[in-house]
Amino acid sequence: TIQKTFSIVKPDAVKRNLIGAIYQRIEQAGLKVVAAKMIHMDADKAKGFYAEHEGKPFFDDLVAFMTSGPVMVQVLEGENAVARYRELMGKTNPEEAACGTLRADYALSLRHNSVHGADSPESAAREIAYFFADDEIHTRG
Ligand code: CMP
Repeated sequence: TIQKTFSIVKPDAVKRNLIGAIYQRIEQAGLKVVAAKMIHMDADKAKGFYAEHEGKPFFDDLVAFMTSGPVMVQVLEGENAVARYRELMGKTNPEEAACGTLRADYALSLRHNSVHGADSPESAAREIAYFFADDEIHTRG
């Protein structure tokens, strides 16, 4: 099944000029970028995005980091895109991420882990709608 997923290139990766490198890896993996923009989130936007983590010990630092600079947000489309993009990213903690994954190659730490990806088709739909209007998404099938 052709799916959509949601992805963020986080501030640590944008700062280090890794947007193109990460997009190249996404495209090489056969996923299509069907929507994209650069945004600088304010605290309310970031808190809403990470609402499920509110109250956790790392929440305030997570929001501070995600608002520390611009990010790229994008919608990726492809066969089984949610799971395939998660595989491409590797585990959340770069020390546990498999060789050749984005986080193994680019992440600096658990917090500064370069990329985000939706964890299920339901999260993907919610996260896409949080950042994109329907007419900003250029489905290519
Ligand atoms: P992300 O996929 O964006 O979802 C939530 C983020 O919180 C996660 O990536 C990590 O960067 C961060 N995170 C998760 N667990 C911890 C933790 N224990 N300490 C610091 N940051 C964390």
